[in-house]
Amino acid sequence: MTALRAFAGTADRREPTLAGPDAFAAYLADQTTRALVARHAASRGWPAATVQGGGLSAAARTLAVAEPPAILLVDVSDCADPLGDFDNLAEAIDSGCRVIAVGASNDARLYRGLLAKGASDYLVKPFDEALLVEALARLERRPAPRGDSRPTRKVAVVGVRGGVGASTVGCTLAALFAERHRMRTTLVDLDLRFGDAALALGVTCGPGLRECLEHPDRIDDLFLERAVAEAGERLRVLAAEEPIVDEIPHRTGAFAALAEHLAAGSSMIVVDMPRTGAGLGDVLAAVDDLVLVAELTLSSARDALRLKQMVQAIDGAPQIRIVANRTGRRGVEHLSGSEFESVVGQKLAACLPVDQPATATAASLGRPLTEVAKRSPLVKRLTALAVDIAGAPPRQAGLVGRLFGGAGR
Ligand SMILES: Nc1ncnc2c1ncn2[C@@H]1O[C@H](COP(=O)(O)OP(=O)(O)OP(=O)(O)O)[C@@H](O)[C@H]1O
Ligand SMILES: [Mg+2]
Repeated sequence: MTALRAFAGTADRREPTLAGPDAFAAYLADQTTRALVARHAASRGWPAATVQGGGLSAAARTLAVAEPPAILLVDVSDCADPLGDFDNLAEAIDSGCRVIAVGASNDARLYRGLLAKGASDYLVKPFDEALLVEALARLERRPAPRGDSRPTRKVAVVGVRGGVGASTVGCTLAALFAERHRMRTTLVDLDLRFGDAALALGVTCGPGLRECLEHPDRIDDLFLERAVAEAGERLRVLAAEEPIVDEIPHRTGAFAALAEHLAAGSSMIVVDMPRTGAGLGDVLAAVDDLVLVAELTLSSARDALRLKQMVQAIDGAPQIRIVANRTGRRGVEHLSGSEFESVVGQKLAACLPVDQPATATAASLGRPLTEVAKRSPLVKRLTALAVDIAGAPPRQAGLVGRLFGGAGR
């Protein structure tokens, strides 16, 4: 299986056919709804075990160790934070499971929130069998969307000056989104000549990325397969090592076209974008979030401000976060955090401490900081930055999740 297929394999969308043993499952908190759904299940010949008690937490516990069904009916009425808890179903939804949420409150905000998190429908209790049949029929009629039902998030990381640590930040964020947020993540290194994302993650990418940017009309999945390398269970890298003397053109719209193809297998795309790169405007116009990486120096503050003003002039500009990297180096920094903030006109989204041993170990092993220094203050601050961008990660459900998941990272 090729790298792209292997990676995207977990994202293959299944049409919701209500046949077969893994067609349907329901986790419902109250006896009345459970009895109604069980009656309907029996009438369709589904095993009685497909209807269980417990609601969303029970569903998440089961899905932590079992394949999701094609259609899942899940009760959110006993959740203190239904939208937060719903994130525990993200991986199942990404893999093609259609979720009908069931709740006690007729709340439009909850309904919209659940749909935004990938629910296909929301039924308010009490409902009768006709409403259930209608909801199931709607899912069977609707073709499975291409890729995730949640839109793919695109985050660009740009250093305001050379060598400030943009690739380190981009690479660590990508690893955090993949490991801790359990999002299928693609790290795209658009520094085609000097980029080191592949090196930093110990993988080798094939040729292809350059052609994607020069001839976006030729991009197809097979074409991308040659360029993509897998760097972890949910992390893949798209990078190149083009000859230093070549000027590499970037067609307008090339990044958007590339992102559209990558979206079928990614819930998150992180772009390591050189500030002097040909496609800077193209990328900034297409991403949702921009992380500007700076140091607490006068030149960094000046260039952070100039880049910020340039980005703000773009129609539909991304949300800009500015982070200070390698902080705490006495005698090297010209500005305090608050002086820097007053120059750039916004709060720093993170202050990332200098940690030479951690970055040196990560570089020499070709592994992300999340692996070699997961309890360091540097990774803790980056973890908070990842949460600021992507929201709280799903809680680890079940024993397997607690033992091997993100606890303590
Ligand atoms: N917080 C940190 N503490 C110590 N060293 C760091 C830190 N962040 C990055 N570095 C180191 O600084 C160097 C430059 O980092 P990196 O390559 O990420 O910067 P960059 O902005 O992407 O550079 P370029 O402009 O060449 O793309 C690397 O050796 C990296 O390990
Ligand atoms: Mg770099």
